[in-house]
Amino acid sequence: MTALLEVEDLEVVFDGFRAIDHLSFQLNEGELRFLIGPNGAGKTTLIDVITGLTKPAGGSVRFEGSELVGRREHEIVRRGVGRTFQTATVFEQLTVLENVDLAATFRMPYSSLLRRARQPAEGVMHALATVELDGLAERPAAVLSHGQRQWLELAMLLVQQPRLLLLDEPVAGMTKQERSRTGALLGQIAQERTVLVVEHDMDFLRRFASTVTVMHEGKVLCEGPLAEVQANPMVQEVYLGRSERGAPSLVGAVTAGTPQARSEGTDAADAT
Ligand SMILES: Nc1ncnc2c1ncn2[C@@H]1O[C@H](COP(=O)(O)OP(=O)(O)O)[C@@H](O)[C@H]1O
Ligand SMILES: [Mg+2]
Repeated sequence: MTALLEVEDLEVVFDGFRAIDHLSFQLNEGELRFLIGPNGAGKTTLIDVITGLTKPAGGSVRFEGSELVGRREHEIVRRGVGRTFQTATVFEQLTVLENVDLAATFRMPYSSLLRRARQPAEGVMHALATVELDGLAERPAAVLSHGQRQWLELAMLLVQQPRLLLLDEPVAGMTKQERSRTGALLGQIAQERTVLVVEHDMDFLRRFASTVTVMHEGKVLCEGPLAEVQANPMVQEVYLGRSERGAPSLVGAVTAGTPQARSEGTDAADAT
């Protein structure tokens, strides 16, 4: 079986600094995979390369068997790869519905845009219902809470019908309740699509993660079920070595047995 996404021997260099170091990584169709690793590990850069935002110095990214490196961002979106950013980008002046409708038109051919009646594009209400924002459809996006904004961004992504979703820290800054809701939502989304989630909230991982890939210094350090990954001495070393800088408490949960939400001041360190 060929993987849906195959990253091979990828290299990204910023002014001589190797942010991605000969990384190879695969995702199979239908997976919900969690990607973790200390700040600066290269997680966001990996997503940037897959989506065409950053050009690699070497290596390849194949999606459904065809090369994405060298293609432009919008073309990669059209091929079925969608992403969210660490900070949600929505149009505050537009209504919730208009935001999703705008995103929906992104993959439409111009001809159907011209013919389009003044009603929401197909799938808009469905996407809003999925993230449970249908009740707020007519309100301006400006009134949404932080968590609701993240969900709106997710709806804007879902309406484009991506086969692969890349979500960069979707629960950062969310309340406990919002995180639970997001976890359930990701499980639901992953029934129809392949999802890669960058997240290191331990509580969240324990509840929702099955397979976890750990990145460190631009490489894959290890990969497997969460419990196995947590018990890996290399992973413990990487996280322990950073704990004084407020890194996510992956190992804290192992050694002390207490989950620690990352709301305790780790967000600022993460704002890359
Ligand atoms: N555009 C850029 N120019 C220079 N260095 C960058 C750029 N983007 C990321 N980096 C560096 O690459 C490394 C990996 O960053 P990033 O992918 O954001 O890590 P993560 O998302 O795992 O926290 C960091 O050391 C970061 O400072
Ligand atoms: Mg990042």
